[in-house]
Amino acid sequence: MYDINDLIDKIELIRKDSLKKIQTSDNIETLKKIYNSVFGKDKELSLLLSEIRNYNIQDKKTLGEFSNKVKKEITDKLFEKETLLKKELVNKELLKTIDVTMPGISNNIGSIHPISQMIDKIVKTFEYFGFSVASGPEIETDWFCFQSLNLDINHPARDMQDTFYIKENHILPRTHTSSVQIRTMLSEKPPIRIIAPGRVYRNENQDQRHTFMFYQFEGLVIDKTTNIKDLKNILTTSLKNIFNNEKIELRLRHSFFPYTEPSFEIDATCLLCNGVGCRVCSNKGWIELMGAGMIHPQVLRNVNIDPQEYQGFAFGGGPERLVMVKNMIDDTRLFYENDLRFLSQFKKI
Ligand code: DAH
Repeated sequence: MYDINDLIDKIELIRKDSLKKIQTSDNIETLKKIYNSVFGKDKELSLLLSEIRNYNIQDKKTLGEFSNKVKKEITDKLFEKETLLKKELVNKELLKTIDVTMPGISNNIGSIHPISQMIDKIVKTFEYFGFSVASGPEIETDWFCFQSLNLDINHPARDMQDTFYIKENHILPRTHTSSVQIRTMLSEKPPIRIIAPGRVYRNENQDQRHTFMFYQFEGLVIDKTTNIKDLKNILTTSLKNIFNNEKIELRLRHSFFPYTEPSFEIDATCLLCNGVGCRVCSNKGWIELMGAGMIHPQVLRNVNIDPQEYQGFAFGGGPERLVMVKNMIDDTRLFYENDLRFLSQFKKI
């Protein structure tokens, strides 16, 4: 049996020796070996500690406290070193695959196409007035696209909407969304309030103002007393909201569409000059936005609605035109060329 001070010295020696080894070790295997050489069952420290039981209570206490402190210090240092070595290892592996000096890859956040943004805005605005969204097929029959809307086979107004017939005089890509009016009136009973956005096609020579495919939105309201005042009110409030401009006023100008009587062109105060007159509105102070009118009684009869009981209005326009007016864009083809230099300017219209 050692003198207590000798035992303490021996333990202290092991402490110093282990801490030094831990400090200089450079891999996890060595750390494991150090651990085993200190704490292994028949190893130095364990043997020395097994001596403690031979001492008196006072010494046992002193030796116990001291040896616990030493054990804790050694295990703490082992753990600390192990964590450090593991971290170094991971970093080393990472360095093999990642060049940290390379510039990072930044995410290019895209945006919604300006026409889709406008359609969303139109739809949301009309939904607010209780309109529901309707749709119809892009490939239509002549009857839905023309005849039911009072455009008989030889009607001269068909010229304005020349298209590509798929089967002669029978099936065609729709030339306007007005066909959705007919489909809705056949499938729903009045009262009706719908907004129908969608693609339409025409046989056009493409230029600044024309493309063979473009978008339209169609509105239809049928009820017992629906009148022109309602049409003007709803459109004025909606356009104020769509253009986010309280100053906009509308003007109804007499026009002709075979499916409405009376028919109008809807003009709005020029957004750029607020009606004063400028280059954009050709000094008129007004810009043409869409077509509208009270549904022709014959169209109502064509879909089995009694014109003595019900009446209503319809309107139709192009979202492209609204985006162009709002952003002073002068070439409609830009929307379809997919040039990101153009499109990315409209994160929010
Ligand atoms: N369908 C017409 C066009 O494509 C626009 C239009 C005019 C729609 C008058 C309507 C309307 O609903 O009442 O040019």
